[in-house]
Amino acid sequence: MAANRSVLVLPGDGIGPEVMAQVQRVINWFDDKGSVRFDVTEDLAGGACYDTHGVSIRDETMEIAMNTDAVLFGAVGGPKWDDVPREHRPEAGLLRLRKDLDLFANLRPAIVLDAMVGASTLKAEVVQGLDILILRELTSGVYFGQPKGEQTLDDGTVRVVDTQAYTEEEIVRVLRVGFELARKRKNKVHCAEKSNVMETGVFWRQISARVAKEEFPDVEFQHILADNCAMQLIRDPHQFDVIVTDNLFGDILSDEAAMMTGSLGMLPSASLGNPDPVTGKRYAMYEPVHGSAPDIAGEGKANPLAMLLSFAMMLRYSFDLGDDADRVETVVQNVLNEGYRTGDIMQDGCHLVSTEEMGTKLIAELDRTAD
Ligand code: NAI
Ligand code: MG
Repeated sequence: MAANRSVLVLPGDGIGPEVMAQVQRVINWFDDKGSVRFDVTEDLAGGACYDTHGVSIRDETMEIAMNTDAVLFGAVGGPKWDDVPREHRPEAGLLRLRKDLDLFANLRPAIVLDAMVGASTLKAEVVQGLDILILRELTSGVYFGQPKGEQTLDDGTVRVVDTQAYTEEEIVRVLRVGFELARKRKNKVHCAEKSNVMETGVFWRQISARVAKEEFPDVEFQHILADNCAMQLIRDPHQFDVIVTDNLFGDILSDEAAMMTGSLGMLPSASLGNPDPVTGKRYAMYEPVHGSAPDIAGEGKANPLAMLLSFAMMLRYSFDLGDDADRVETVVQNVLNEGYRTGDIMQDGCHLVSTEEMGTKLIAELDRTAD
């Protein structure tokens, strides 16, 4: 039996604990039946942590996060904490995790499962069988570049500035993640930038051309202008496999790609750091794209599949358990094919189930397919 794998579980607020509870059942299932065991540590984060400890994440929790194999994160926030000081806001805990673990590579898959083709606003023939990955640079670029903020010019005119800035290393490291992921997928990378109008775009273009040629000659590589990429995603998304891009374009393109799949309740994500040169260990955090959904929290309506698919990404990317990740993804597909739906993805002729019931169907399907 393989060694235990350590996981820090941070359910957070709102529907976070509800969807995480279903993942915990799947973790228990693996512990009981599978060949994989997990050492799970659970802790508070976000508003729940603020209510108990006066901070959105504790130093002790950060210490555990730095020494664990992977962090599984639910969602944080809600109207209850709207008036909390900025540095203690629920999202401050999430930002600290991303920053201290230096999680620079944000993986946002856009996968259209057969049962969900009808949920997309695009035509079935455009999205059927879609499986692409947007890789967004997460810790640099225009959201962080200096100077930033308001200036008053000599003539009294107010001017507000954001700065788009990238170092070579910041671009190279996210590109490498993209090329490595592509090798395990359809072996194709697009790098999206605006080299026609931006200096940083020219830089991204030069560096990506070099990394492609020198380090990944076996991977098919193409430059694409980010605005054209936005159009091509809608016109013919199947031409893509992995799209690597900066923080700002990645924010937009990943949301665009996500919506081709139809529902927020189905979307997982992963954020990865650099591998440690000695141990090879890579900081990693896995979380659904959705938030804490205060409008449905506590009602048993939340769709746990985004959280569960985030767990599957953890199996694949932190623990190299591709078969077990496939197993979880297959079980999700089977349960959807059988017609079970939470409210957010409900379709005519399907059976409406609660969060808990969806979990029960998943476990039953895991049992059935284990034989
Ligand atoms: P949201 O993602 O929480 O909800 C948007 C809409 O989608 C709501 O109608 C919600 O009911 C629905 N929804 C989301 N996830 C669902 C699921 N799993 N199953 C069924 N329906 C689902 O975004 P919103 O409303 O903008 O933000 C709510 C709170 O969450 C805010 O405090 C916000 O700051 C926080 N938030 C936290 C994030 C995180 O922890 N990473 C990310 C986004 C928002
Ligand atoms: Mg966004």
